[in-house]
Amino acid sequence: MFMKKSLLSASAFWAFCCVAEGTELARLKSRLPEIFAKSAAHYKALDAAATAVMYNTNGMVMLPRGYNRTLKRLTIREITCWTSGHYPGSLWYLFEATGDEFFKERAAMWTETLKPISKFEGNHDIGFMMYCSFGNARRLLKTGKYDHLLVEAANTLSLRFEPKLGLIRSWGKVDDRDSFLVIPDNLMNLELLEWAAKAKNGDRRFAEMARSHADVTMKNHFRADGGTYHVLNYSQKDLRVQEVRRGQGASCFTAWSRGQSWGIYGYTMMYRESGNKTYLNFAEKLADYAVNHPNMPEDGIPYWDYGAPGEERDSSAGSIMASGLLELSKYVDSAKGESYRKFAARQLLSLASPAYFSEGGEIGHFLLKHGVGFKPGGHEIDTPLNYGDYYFLEALLRARNL
Ligand code: GLY
Repeated sequence: MFMKKSLLSASAFWAFCCVAEGTELARLKSRLPEIFAKSAAHYKALDAAATAVMYNTNGMVMLPRGYNRTLKRLTIREITCWTSGHYPGSLWYLFEATGDEFFKERAAMWTETLKPISKFEGNHDIGFMMYCSFGNARRLLKTGKYDHLLVEAANTLSLRFEPKLGLIRSWGKVDDRDSFLVIPDNLMNLELLEWAAKAKNGDRRFAEMARSHADVTMKNHFRADGGTYHVLNYSQKDLRVQEVRRGQGASCFTAWSRGQSWGIYGYTMMYRESGNKTYLNFAEKLADYAVNHPNMPEDGIPYWDYGAPGEERDSSAGSIMASGLLELSKYVDSAKGESYRKFAARQLLSLASPAYFSEGGEIGHFLLKHGVGFKPGGHEIDTPLNYGDYYFLEALLRARNL
């Protein structure tokens, strides 16, 4: 495919994509009932296992994050973990996909365990934790009963905004004057701020913070070719980037695949929320970097870093990217939109195939195999990740709604 593409002119390539798009998206759509049914069966089994280990020895709630194949048991994490909202979020998506009341009841139960997170000041991840859980609850239940918690969470996140830099601090304490760390994942937390700026008891300034963060990140966090850095350390004295860290990526000179996917998704969402075309153009640039990357495999599921061809794939980078591309496809011109839909459909068909989609209990009833959490740290390599499943289900629903 990529060999062929290099022999075609850009316009011929888009034309080629358009012809193929209808087929791949139609094929995906025809398979959705079967994929949702299998996913629902997996998550019923997963929920039984997760419920059995829901409390640790200190009585704290623990949520499923992944599966340890060596120990043959679920990996569970406390509510303050950045992924705590994704498990209830997947249950909400399965309720949306199937209409099965079982998922509504279980999603509501797990979501309610996260109430204390509205005051969590430990890092920027409160957007993931609260919006994937309570955000989906309010949307699907059409209720305002969680709005005060979501507004409170936005307020908590806003405490990490530093006006001089115009950025939200991702990691570290708010009074740390020596370092100010920002990662592209942070873009995902801006959706909570955008929502809360419009909420009844919200504050318009939340949107100003979100847009300022998106603007400064756009300026500094991506290379000229559209590839992302992972960790930037800003100086609070001269207001410049003082350090680039490879973080979860392979190096400071390559693009960490999940970070690239956060960027595509994040700027697409910021365009939806703000109507600012600069974000749309930027989302397109980040998407084109990924879609056209010479190291992008034929099945559309990236290696864990764009600079690590031949190493592990990261199915979560694939599902986040597919979800972002499907939304982006609605906002760009029609030929480009069709090419993004085609690419996302290819990614989702790959993820739904036996190469990635688990059968039975081989990975503790999670859906997707082959995620990579933090390879340089030696954690969660070639493993299921609850957020990979979450964005997979979201992307399937987005495909259904197209
Ligand atoms: N937000 C952390 C990660 O993507 O691994």
